[in-house]
Formats: sequence, structure tokens, C-alpha cells
Amino acid sequence: MAYVVFMIVVFIEVVWVWRIGLIGFGNVGQGFIRLLASKADFLENKFGFRFSVVAISDPVKGNAYDPGGLDLSEIVSHLDKYGDIKKMEVEKDFNSMDVVRNFDLDIVVEATPTNIESGEPGLSHIRGALDAGRHVVTSNKGPIALAYRELSDLARRRGVFLRFEGTVMSGTPVISMGMELLSLCELKGVYGILNGTTNYILTRMEEGLTYDDALREAQTLGYAEADPTMDVDAWDPAIKIVILANVLMDADLRIEDVERTGIRGISRDDVMAAVGRGKRIKLIAYSYMEDGRVYAGVGPKELDASEPIASVMGVTNAITFKTDVLGDITVVGPGAGRIETGYALLNDILYIHRHT
Ligand code: HSE
Repeated sequence: MAYVVFMIVVFIEVVWVWRIGLIGFGNVGQGFIRLLASKADFLENKFGFRFSVVAISDPVKGNAYDPGGLDLSEIVSHLDKYGDIKKMEVEKDFNSMDVVRNFDLDIVVEATPTNIESGEPGLSHIRGALDAGRHVVTSNKGPIALAYRELSDLARRRGVFLRFEGTVMSGTPVISMGMELLSLCELKGVYGILNGTTNYILTRMEEGLTYDDALREAQTLGYAEADPTMDVDAWDPAIKIVILANVLMDADLRIEDVERTGIRGISRDDVMAAVGRGKRIKLIAYSYMEDGRVYAGVGPKELDASEPIASVMGVTNAITFKTDVLGDITVVGPGAGRIETGYALLNDILYIHRHT
């Protein structure tokens, strides 16, 4: 008796789809969603990256939840039409902690505004999401400046990623440059222009605008913090230099440890007078190691116009890493912006995709 054995091989293609929840739908969150929508095909074709945005939570712009995935083109058209997503016909009755803990998600994107006193609500969002075993990417500087050690330790214990490239110089690679590409070097210090808004204001004043008009432009363009005194009084670059010192130089600085002066006292006349002397005023942030201790500060400096960093204009920022092996490495690129910061969030997600 002859037996014919039929072997039926069933190939089941398991397609991993990253389930993403977004908390904070202001300038940065919107920039992230617009970029994600425009790059979806590119991400899938080039990296095999597939995603589903399951929830967006924002107390001002609106909530949206669909466990099957929200329609990004619908979100973008609501943004174009109304500036928010309140009219979308989806589930809206939930809060940000549902995104953190209760929804079925892999990655939480935290893009709420920076709070330098308590870090909240971002700190609770990030802590809760990591604790629940979700990867976190964030552009929120408060939690990283205030609680980097605690949060990175929690991420390690839970076996998930915490990525925060967008906290310093938006999408320009600074954190990953320091943590990954320069990790073989001993970092002796960093300095540069770390705030887009103030560099934009100083540039526009040189072109003839008043301080107030230049600040208004920076707000309209989405560069300034929700509270622009954070920029002009140099809290923002102070927070960034704390992040760089703590993350890259193993320091344990608090924001109060940073010597800080902003640009509020600088007028168009001061800017023009400096130009007349062949100089330029720039808001410079710095951190350095001396006798085993790390120091940091930020303040306006008058630079020779011939110095390379003096020609960094507008919203462009620059940072120099002072290293033992490679000497000085300088990175120049956008310091702020909706799409630019959205880029940092998306690139951090792509990093997680490529390293899991
Ligand atoms: N307000 C910040 C800036 C945004 O102007 O640089 C980017 O961190």
C-alpha cells in the first residue's frame, strides 16, 4: 500500500506593527504626526517599520482613541481645518494616564510642555509608561533634566528604551552623538548655542526688528516654549546644559546649579553696537569638568564675528564637544521647530525598531 504523504507547509508571515500612543498634541506632537503621515511608506519600504497610532491625548487640542488605529490623514485634515482634533468622531472619553497604563501600546510618545519645577505632568507619564513596560520617546526636557538617573534606571530594569533626542537641539543629533558615536571618548566639556528662540531674536534684531517683534515671530514659527520667558531668561538652555552634563558627563547637576543670564536686557542698539565693533552677541551655554567636578552656565557673550560659532544665525544652533581622542567636534543644525522636533521623536522610534 502506497502512502502519499502530503506535506502542507503553511507560511505565516508575522507582521509586527508598533502600537503608538501620543501624549501632548501642541506644536511638537503635531509636527510628529505630520512627519509620520508623510514618511509612512518610506518607513515601511526602507526599514520594514509598520505602525498604528492608537491614541492621542491633549487637554486643549482634543483626545482620540481607536484600538484599530487612527486615520492619520483624517487627523492632518482636521488640524488643517480646525487646528485641533475635537470634531473627530472617535472615542474621546479617556485621559493621559489611560495612554500611559491602560491601552494596549508598545511606545508612548511624551510631548507635553516642559515644566522645570516639578517636571509634571510629563514625569508621571514617563515614569508610569516605563513602569508598565512601554518604550518611551520624549521631547520633554523637564523630566530628563530633573530625573534622568531614576528614569534611565527604571527603563533598564524594565528592559525598555527611554530616548530623548528631541530635548536638545530638536532633530539635530546631539544626544545620540554624545551617547553613541562619541562614547569611546572622554568628554571634557561642551559649549554652544542651545536655544533657537533667542538666537532667532538676536539675529532678527541685527536685521532691524525690535525685541518684541522678533519674539512674536519666534512664537508664530513654533520655536518658543509655551511660556517664552523660559527662552529669553535662559531657563531653556540651562535645562539643556543640565541634560548634557548629567547624561554625557555623568554629573548630577540641578537647574539651580547653572549660572544663568538671559537676553531680556539686550536691545537692538546693543546688538547693532556689537556689530559695529566687528562682534556678535550670542547666548552661549557651557559645561566643563574641573578637578573632578562638573560646572555649567549660560549667558550672553560678545564673540568676534570671525569665530565660526558667531555666524550661526536664526533658529540654527551649534554645539561643540571637547573630547580627549578626537579633539573638538562641532554639530550645527536646527535648534527648534515643529517638524524638526517631530523628527527627533520619530528617529528615536526608528532606533527602537532597529534595536529590538
Ligand atoms: N524653545 C526651544 C528653543 C525649543 O527655542 O530652542 C527647542 O527646545
